[in-house]
Amino acid sequence: MGGPEDDPPPALEVTVRRLKLDSAEDKALCATFSCGSEEWEVQVSDFITRKLWLPGRDAEHTLLAVEAGSGLMFGFGATKVTTVELPQRPDPVPIVRVCYFGVASAFKGAVDTDGRKWASRLYTTVEADARSRAPSPDVPFELFCDRRNERGLRFWTDTKRGFEVIGAAYGDLLRLVRMPPDTAGVAAAAQ
Ligand SMILES: CC(C)(COP(=O)(O)OP(=O)(O)OC[C@H]1O[C@@H](n2cnc3c(N)ncnc32)[C@H](O)[C@@H]1OP(=O)(O)O)[C@@H](O)C(=O)NCCC(=O)NCCS
Repeated sequence: MGGPEDDPPPALEVTVRRLKLDSAEDKALCATFSCGSEEWEVQVSDFITRKLWLPGRDAEHTLLAVEAGSGLMFGFGATKVTTVELPQRPDPVPIVRVCYFGVASAFKGAVDTDGRKWASRLYTTVEADARSRAPSPDVPFELFCDRRNERGLRFWTDTKRGFEVIGAAYGDLLRLVRMPPDTAGVAAAAQ
């Protein structure tokens, strides 16, 4: 006999699309986004609610995720392809920087019917999209994360994402990098 308690949790339907800076609908959707009240969370929210829309900015490539049932913004990811120096490489290299990534407070920890985390699914989409714009699919990925952001650090350093903290950046920010598999092995062997 099955009861309501035997039912799987309701499946969220999340759609992902590229944010359009000339879309009033997207601007309105982003305007109320909040992923929390901690300093690092406010910075992520401030980017998508305000900073991204400042005129004349060299805009990051941003994907928006929307929860279909409520029409609310689930989260977003903003990336850019740039060139940086890395301790693992002798010369500057093209990389993908994950500039901002956040899930709305109401949806943090959300899973689909197979138990997969929606944040993880969104990041997979954001990463694949960024990789398709990079000069090579084997680019390193880079991001900065506040050292007090335990949830974020856990998310990025999980084996599914595979980022490693390579050092302090500035202020409370740590620099995290994920090298392509071949060079990660070379770097580890060189140590
Ligand atoms: C980081 C973020 C995108 C992750 O999305 P999420 O839906 O919260 O992801 P999860 O629920 O899988 O949480 C990530 C991990 O942190 C763990 N976690 C949950 N609450 C935690 C807490 N208070 N402290 C530490 N870890 C916590 C989760 O259990 C999970 O670990 P697990 O996979 O080993 O179980 C989301 O929390 C967020 O938007 N945070 C605010 C913005 C932000 O920090 N962005 C990244 C900036 S670098």
